[in-house]
Amino acid sequence: MAEHPAYPVGLRLTGRRVVVLGGGQVAQRRLPALIAAGGVIVLISPEATPSVEAMADAGEITWERRRYTEGDLTDAWYALIATGDSEANARASAEAERHRVWCVRSDDADRATAWTPATGHSEGVTIAVLTTDVKGRDPRHTAAIRDAVVEGLRDGTLVARHHRTRAPGVALVGGGPGDPDLITVRGRRLLAEADVVIADRLGPRDLLAELPPHVEVIDAAKIPYGRFMAQEAINNALIEHAKQGKAVVRLKGGDPYVFGRGMEELLALAEAGIACTVVPGISSSISVPGAVGIPVTHRGVAHEFTVVSGHVAPDDERSLVDWPSLAKLTGTLVVLMGVDKIGRIAETLVAHGRSPDTPVALVQEGTTAAQRRVDATLATVGETVRAEEVKPPAVIVIGEVVNVGLPAAQAPQPS
Ligand SMILES: C[S@@+](CC[C@H](N)C(=O)[O-])C[C@H]1O[C@@H](n2cnc3c(N)ncnc32)[C@H](O)[C@@H]1O
Repeated sequence: MAEHPAYPVGLRLTGRRVVVLGGGQVAQRRLPALIAAGGVIVLISPEATPSVEAMADAGEITWERRRYTEGDLTDAWYALIATGDSEANARASAEAERHRVWCVRSDDADRATAWTPATGHSEGVTIAVLTTDVKGRDPRHTAAIRDAVVEGLRDGTLVARHHRTRAPGVALVGGGPGDPDLITVRGRRLLAEADVVIADRLGPRDLLAELPPHVEVIDAAKIPYGRFMAQEAINNALIEHAKQGKAVVRLKGGDPYVFGRGMEELLALAEAGIACTVVPGISSSISVPGAVGIPVTHRGVAHEFTVVSGHVAPDDERSLVDWPSLAKLTGTLVVLMGVDKIGRIAETLVAHGRSPDTPVALVQEGTTAAQRRVDATLATVGETVRAEEVKPPAVIVIGEVVNVGLPAAQAPQPS
């Protein structure tokens, strides 16, 4: 039978009877997609794997605990024949042929009337790969092609522009702490589809170099702001470009909502009637300590971690941070934007009860090639920062977790 290549088609199974014979690994792999396609699925099998059984328990399929008998395929639109009994498979396959039911056979692709392609999904599209070489079918090769296409679309290395559905607007994308591999799959894809990218100094700047030449890349720090505040000027730039019908990505370091002013931008865009989507990012507050082997929590050591902005000193009237209360906590304190003020912060914490011996780690430019860790205690950190010339951006970790990781020599290195 297998002389011509298979004809690719998408079956619309909603409300249509699909019969699955055999409840083993093949059924387990294929059932989720059949369920997702809305098929009315009847599984006929004396046994089933626990996962298949769970689908029956959840009411996603109907399970008849018995062997195949003649007539089971009569009203089916589609059948998956995958029992361990080749004689039963052959009989079922003959019945499917008589009733003109397209059927897949797990034990004999040559005798099947349908083949299951290697499938994957990306942004509302199903990618299905079928071999045309009927003699030399190579399922691993088709799966590898599927993986390459799906991964490429997800990470943006394969760019397929949307022509009908892509609406202009702004995406606030959390770019992660700096390592270009630490942006989300969605963020990377939106970046690859952007017409304009407005980027911060922090975040995965290496990704900007990969953008095609037609993409306008704007450094947020260089947007002239004249009579506006810098943030207002950035908001205006986002609005103006979006109004020109462009797909705009606002690329931010870490997560847009962790000291990232993401909500200010979102509100300004909403007020201007511009569609906006927000893509979370990996915040430096967790990932940068992790990059040098410091966990922000550890069983038996720290049951809480608090992320604080240190951009104003504790005695500054603009400070919204209750430092005396933080000094009484026993868990981990993670201070962002605190390099300049860490001396005053440490003094305040000690003055309100935190031990001067509390370990402190400063991690500068975490997850990048320039990553650097400097260790101190609350008593010494002010001086250490000066002596070691620690510069922003740095995440400062205060607490016993600093000492639970691997020794520095064995700690993870940036990749
Ligand atoms: C304006 S805040 C933005 C935080 C960001 N939204 C986040 O979730 O990571 C900037 C501060 O984040 C920290 N930071 C961001 N990226 C960093 C990195 N790669 N290494 C060290 N600190 C970083 C520094 O404390 C820096 O001053």
